[in-house]
Amino acid sequence: MFIRDVPVEIHDWINEEKQRSLLTKNEVVLDILDQAYRGSRQMPLFGEKRRIDVLPGSLPLSFIDLFAGIGGLRLGLERVGGRCIFSCEWDRYSQKTYKAWFGELPHGDIRKIDPASIPDHDILAAGFPCQPFSIAGVSKKKSLGREHGFKDVTQGTLFFYLATIIELKRPPVILLENVKNLKSHDGGRTWNVVKSRLEELRYDIHDRVIDAAAWVPQHRERVFIVGFDKDVFGEHVHFDFDSVKPAPGDPPKLSEILEEKPDPKYTLTSHLWNYLQEYAARHKEKGNGFGFGIANPDGVTRTLSARYFKDGSEILIKQPRKNPRRLTPSECARLMGFPAGLKQVVSDTQAYRQFGNAVVPPVAAAVAQEIVRAIGEQLVRGGSLLKKRLPHLLQE
Ligand SMILES: C[S@@+](CC[C@H](N)C(=O)[O-])C[C@H]1O[C@@H](n2cnc3c(N)ncnc32)[C@H](O)[C@@H]1O
Repeated sequence: MFIRDVPVEIHDWINEEKQRSLLTKNEVVLDILDQAYRGSRQMPLFGEKRRIDVLPGSLPLSFIDLFAGIGGLRLGLERVGGRCIFSCEWDRYSQKTYKAWFGELPHGDIRKIDPASIPDHDILAAGFPCQPFSIAGVSKKKSLGREHGFKDVTQGTLFFYLATIIELKRPPVILLENVKNLKSHDGGRTWNVVKSRLEELRYDIHDRVIDAAAWVPQHRERVFIVGFDKDVFGEHVHFDFDSVKPAPGDPPKLSEILEEKPDPKYTLTSHLWNYLQEYAARHKEKGNGFGFGIANPDGVTRTLSARYFKDGSEILIKQPRKNPRRLTPSECARLMGFPAGLKQVVSDTQAYRQFGNAVVPPVAAAVAQEIVRAIGEQLVRGGSLLKKRLPHLLQE
């Protein structure tokens, strides 16, 4: 068998598989093709770590991952049977991690992507950055007698690019994630623009602030927005955020994700520790609350932020006879609910930033599970437009 232009990393991997399995190169390639054809198991392209345990009741939905970060939403959607067919993330370090974990390099700046080049998909997933919308231009335009709408209001913001993609591609379902602040930002105007624009595009919108603390030992509130195309699903879909719950059991505790022998390099220097204590004391005097947070091993931590790499002050771990330490990047991965075995391919600084920006995959999976349930219910009810738009769901 002779295949041209095999990328070097796939070539290396086939050789590794060959040595590991004691098969010939031909047999290795045939074995992979055979497994892929039968769909009996995940393509072993990325080794054990890419085996996806799909949850019961899943559906073979295709999705795109915009503002992908390191794929928190992606991991959640994959758990319910989703298959990612396009991704976009402009930060080159996040791209590097994404490539290592998912085997694909995301497209860059969303503003440079022609929406028409994006493949058709069932779910559009996006954790878009929260930006203010300038409303100032509206009255000016109004006074000039020009028609204005939310399109004008949002032009130039990243949400505008997202809305343009939604308008052109009309995904049946959208799943967006943002900081909790999106709803109160700019006196509620930002949220108003987002929701109104999506409704203007004829989506039935559901939103909820969810605290990840029910899934992982971290207090992390994020707003999840789920929209269903009314032209496909009808005016109102029975989607219920109250059903988005973790499996029954004890709430997670920080102690469960801590390493026994973390590298001493994560212990704060006396210089930094003194600085943090003095800073906290000064601010306490002024009644500004405390600066650093010593985490309770039996409870949950504060929110891991993208600036954790600076001093780690929001989540510090007490140590006997030593200064406190910050979390290691692997502990951050577990605190965020990322699966075990994902290799760190960037510096600690970048890894902290990436986890601090990410969506908690088990929360994304729980929201995705409710999306799948709602679609399934609609299919059973016999929505003819839905069957026409998503025929592949009926073939399973
Ligand atoms: C909140 S994070 C996304 C988290 C991610 N969706 C997840 O599931 O874990 C937002 C991401 O948007 C990316 N971003 C910001 N502006 C962008 C642009 N113009 N084009 C592409 N990505 C962008 C940032 O680099 C950042 O990684």
